[in-house]
Amino acid sequence: MSHKEEYGDYQTPEQFTKVVCEFLFYKKKVRPSCVIEPTCGRGNFLKSSLIFNASQYYGIEINEKYCDICRRYFDSRYVKIINSDIFNFDFTHLVGENILIVGNPPWVTNTELSKLNSANVPNKINLKKLKGIDAITGASNFDICETIILRLIQSFKFSNTHIALLCKNSVARNIFCEVKKGKIGFTDFEMFEFDSKKIFGINASCCLLYIKLSPKSISSSCEVYNLDSPNKLKSSLDLIDGRIIPTLTNNIDNFDGSCCFEWRQGIKHDCSKIMELNFQDHKLINGKGEIVLIEKDLVYPLVKSSMFKSPIINSFSKYVIVTQKKIKEDTSYIEKIYPLTWKYLDDNNSFFNKRKSSIYKRSPKFSMFGVGGYSYSRYKVGISGFYKTPLFSLLVSNTKPVMIDDTSYFLSFSTYNDAYTSMLFLNSRRVQGFLKSISFQDNKRPYSKKVLARLDFKKIVEKISFSELQETEKYLNLDPFITKELVQEFKKLVFSCTRD
Ligand SMILES: C[S@@+](CC[C@H](N)C(=O)[O-])C[C@H]1O[C@@H](n2cnc3c(N)ncnc32)[C@H](O)[C@@H]1O
Repeated sequence: MSHKEEYGDYQTPEQFTKVVCEFLFYKKKVRPSCVIEPTCGRGNFLKSSLIFNASQYYGIEINEKYCDICRRYFDSRYVKIINSDIFNFDFTHLVGENILIVGNPPWVTNTELSKLNSANVPNKINLKKLKGIDAITGASNFDICETIILRLIQSFKFSNTHIALLCKNSVARNIFCEVKKGKIGFTDFEMFEFDSKKIFGINASCCLLYIKLSPKSISSSCEVYNLDSPNKLKSSLDLIDGRIIPTLTNNIDNFDGSCCFEWRQGIKHDCSKIMELNFQDHKLINGKGEIVLIEKDLVYPLVKSSMFKSPIINSFSKYVIVTQKKIKEDTSYIEKIYPLTWKYLDDNNSFFNKRKSSIYKRSPKFSMFGVGGYSYSRYKVGISGFYKTPLFSLLVSNTKPVMIDDTSYFLSFSTYNDAYTSMLFLNSRRVQGFLKSISFQDNKRPYSKKVLARLDFKKIVEKISFSELQETEKYLNLDPFITKELVQEFKKLVFSCTRD
């Protein structure tokens, strides 16, 4: 990662800072007495914000060269440029009436920074108190931009400050969650989406996030617009029972609740060259192109997220070595029971040593994550977290449990019939409509474990009729298999489930 990437140093073109400031001035009628640009870089937002004719301007920036550029350009009586790390800067002395905070904080994730051992991170990185397991599965990966905006909100809450900052849509939604949960007062919370390809040459869904804070404890929903057509509401979001929900439209069924079955994420090993094997000409070949001759016992069929292409997956070309039955299990048993497998793994130990995450360093040799009794269930229904249209696949092999990778999620069943019936319910038109309505297509993983855990099977089995399941079978090009008896059995399972 370069210095530029580490500091999220992508200056906003002046043409665009002008569009944003004019929008705030003319459309939002913002008339601040003081303008602050945190992480101001070369000061393009400060330049365009001269339109506000405020009595005081502040720019805070870590890069000394940029501070000098700004100081040469602006009149120091009105525009104060402060060379400081934003994470050590105390904003409270700037809090006052009628302030505008405008700009573009760096877009870089804590995971990208930690790979670099970068010091450009806030002191309290666990601001949102994410659990250890989230760190392992990547759920705690968040943008530094998000931390900066949350800090600004913390400093300026209880005032009537306007916050207008560029960020990813996912960051804006997380901020909305935090602000609502923290009961921080605001009168407006709006996302104005723009074309990041056109402005920054990058593919990311992003917006101008506009928040008008309020000293009173009031709030509203989050409204989403296009910056090009700011009068046309695209959608609105709300926080209900701790979850962010696009406001449901009338023709979408509400299957929202808590799933009686536990959604699991697939296995994670970060060593695909050695652990993943392709089955070619009756031979297992590893990522180095070598033929691998090992005992078959620890080799399992593998479905990766790009392979979720049909409703039933029962033939496999990819396999994975699974070294453990549960997390942290001692792996030394492999040496005694499966000497060829152990030798193969040990010969390739250097690949395991290259695994960056510290979680592997504290674990037995050749450890994996996302393994447990559930990984070994014979019937699974899985989904790729990445796809835009959710397709649920029944995963079954005649010989062994099927494993899935850590970018996919699955439910485990003990019978084929229950797995098949659940796959049909999940692929039915109305469940798909509901899932799309509660997920965000611009998220890297629209169908995360969190989203899937909201599918309430009790509501689903009550509302979806037998004929809809038959229609789903036809639509998926499956031979007729579903019967009323199978549905009855599945309903019994759902209502006997004690997981809520
Ligand atoms: C995305 S650029 C935006 C610059 C400017 N606001 C603009 O919109 O053109 C992010 C800026 O944040 C600065 N930066 C990164 N980390 C910082 C930190 N910890 N404290 C202050 N500034 C920082 C970078 O040097 C860079 O100029």
